[in-house]
Amino acid sequence: MRRILLLPLLAAFACQQPAPLDKCITPRPQQVETLGGVLNLERPLHLATEVPEAEAAMLAGYLTATDLPLADPLSADDRARLPELRLAYSDDASLPVSEEGYRLTVSRRGVEILSRGDAGLFYGLQTLLQLHDHYGQALPCVRITDAPRFPYRGLHLDVSRHFFDKEFVKKQLRMMARLKLNRFHWHLTDGAGWRIEIDRYPLLTEVAAWRHGSTWQAWRDGGYRYARHDDPEATGGYYTKAEIREVVALADSLHITVIPEIEMPAHSEEVLAVYPALSCSGRPYTTGDFCIGNEATFEFLENVLTEVMELFPSKWIHIGGDEASKTGWTSCPKCRERMRHEGLTTVDQLQSYAIHRISDFLAQHGRRLIGWDEILDGGLAPDAVVMSWRGEEGGRKAAAAGHDVVMTPGSHCYFDGYQDNPTTEPQAFSGYLPLRKVYAYDPAPETMPGHERIQGVQANLWTEYIPTPQQAEYMLYPRLFALAEVAWSDPARMDYTDFHRRALDLTARARRAGYNAFDLTNEQGERLESLGEVDHLARGCRVDYATPWSDRYPAAGVATLTDGIRGSWSYNTRWQGFLESDVEVTIDLGQNRELHEVTADFIQWFSAWVWLPKQVEIALSDDGREFRTIATLRNDYPEHAERPEFRAFGWQGADRGRYVRYRAIHNGRPGGWLFTDEIIVR
Ligand code: ACM
Ligand code: ZN
Repeated sequence: MRRILLLPLLAAFACQQPAPLDKCITPRPQQVETLGGVLNLERPLHLATEVPEAEAAMLAGYLTATDLPLADPLSADDRARLPELRLAYSDDASLPVSEEGYRLTVSRRGVEILSRGDAGLFYGLQTLLQLHDHYGQALPCVRITDAPRFPYRGLHLDVSRHFFDKEFVKKQLRMMARLKLNRFHWHLTDGAGWRIEIDRYPLLTEVAAWRHGSTWQAWRDGGYRYARHDDPEATGGYYTKAEIREVVALADSLHITVIPEIEMPAHSEEVLAVYPALSCSGRPYTTGDFCIGNEATFEFLENVLTEVMELFPSKWIHIGGDEASKTGWTSCPKCRERMRHEGLTTVDQLQSYAIHRISDFLAQHGRRLIGWDEILDGGLAPDAVVMSWRGEEGGRKAAAAGHDVVMTPGSHCYFDGYQDNPTTEPQAFSGYLPLRKVYAYDPAPETMPGHERIQGVQANLWTEYIPTPQQAEYMLYPRLFALAEVAWSDPARMDYTDFHRRALDLTARARRAGYNAFDLTNEQGERLESLGEVDHLARGCRVDYATPWSDRYPAAGVATLTDGIRGSWSYNTRWQGFLESDVEVTIDLGQNRELHEVTADFIQWFSAWVWLPKQVEIALSDDGREFRTIATLRNDYPEHAERPEFRAFGWQGADRGRYVRYRAIHNGRPGGWLFTDEIIVR
């Protein structure tokens, strides 16, 4: 090990250093010691790597594409004159244990990055690049000792619902590397399109990769039809094997493992459209579930996985496993025979049988199965890794039972949700997930049994409502900055106000670098009504429900509609839900009052099947028995409108009464919801 001599004198200046240095680095590093003084980069750094040649070439190639000033190859004399950028392995006891950890020292004489492994050297460089972004030619002298909280720091991209080409994927990999993210989960197959060339099954890319209808709505409205690749109306695409190799090679150079996902036993409509013999019915367009009773299904899946494993060196192979309908299995003679033969009594067990078989197959090839948390249903395969998406429950259960888990709950990790006011943002899919909420996520609190089995966390980008690369970047950034810090940094050192400042800076930089990030400077934030409480005549008054609320969305129960607290942009926060039912409630104001206003808000949220009421009727009474209607309000917001809408239905005038009856009439859609938060009386 070499020098970086720190004169004792320098320490005296440490307390004079003005800016908290670590506050320009994202994800925030573990430990930062300010050393005082500045390294002047007006003279370029000369790169001195003490690592194997191939790795050295990779690092040099990487750095050449950055704007860090680096000297061209030099004579020994020149080298001696220039400050050095030294990258070297070290197993010094003071270094972080993780091979992804590093120590970066900037002194007046140069820069040194030490690590136990290549990834750590690379991450030390990322930190150096961020310092350079921030401080330009005058790098403050500093020692940063850093390591990740989690070994798995992931981004998922759904390329089935919409296809994104290899250049787009490579661009996102480069940003991932800047953020010290290290797993790219490539959702390559789903009902909306097969995206990977498989030599043995050409119909997957001649037909199943193409469809009629480029947007989700157009495809849905056209009846979810596939098309031949040479059909002039066809849209879609797939990656050739050469393209996949190119992406995997780039990822490897960025210390990112690419985990391919091949969906099974469900989400496979596109496969079964072209190879219908693998479904229970034997007919195309009948289901997305493979027939588990048919040996040909396993032959197909194993052949596909064999070609997949040739392309992807990743130890973990994702096999989906989510959302099987399982309905065809109960009546299919082959599936029933399989169940009888294997002594299985439920369709969950039948799915588990399939997952076990695939897990064994992967294990025979030195790989390990990872799947969505449904792989727990019916019994988890012994060495399988669980990716928890239906909340955290599945992940917690699996972790407590000793399984490795990646957390990616919809509540905090589904970046297809709105990041800002859903009534003005471009159409998105699920709920409201602002930057602040991503940042607040803790995947493995220490109080959680099995927390040490949580391998990490991942952001998921499902793309039903993301038809363009620009929109994909808009949904990813800046939220991916927050996820990266959740994945890397020590929660004790995380602070949203500080992060937000850095996120503004990173967002501006990303936009300058050509990423279409959401403009954080214009964030509107949470629904204003939900931020304070509202005082009104009915506040605290008793409410009688003629129609019950649903147990799934009780909000604060019987107090909800008169507690002064209003709902947020999330329909599952402080909104009371009524399933396939009107809302009919009567409020007792305690005494006869003079009244000027009665109003309540409702939501339309198409993708959650939440609707504005068809009509609202407001009535008053003096005795609670005889009511007279004072307002009948019809809804004029179109039922087919997919953009979320928050609307008040209210009466204003002059009248008197003690009892207020508020009746909101459901639009009659099967499975439809009404959501309301407060009935305001003035
Ligand atoms: C999923 O969102 N179906 C994993
Ligand atoms: Zn079957």
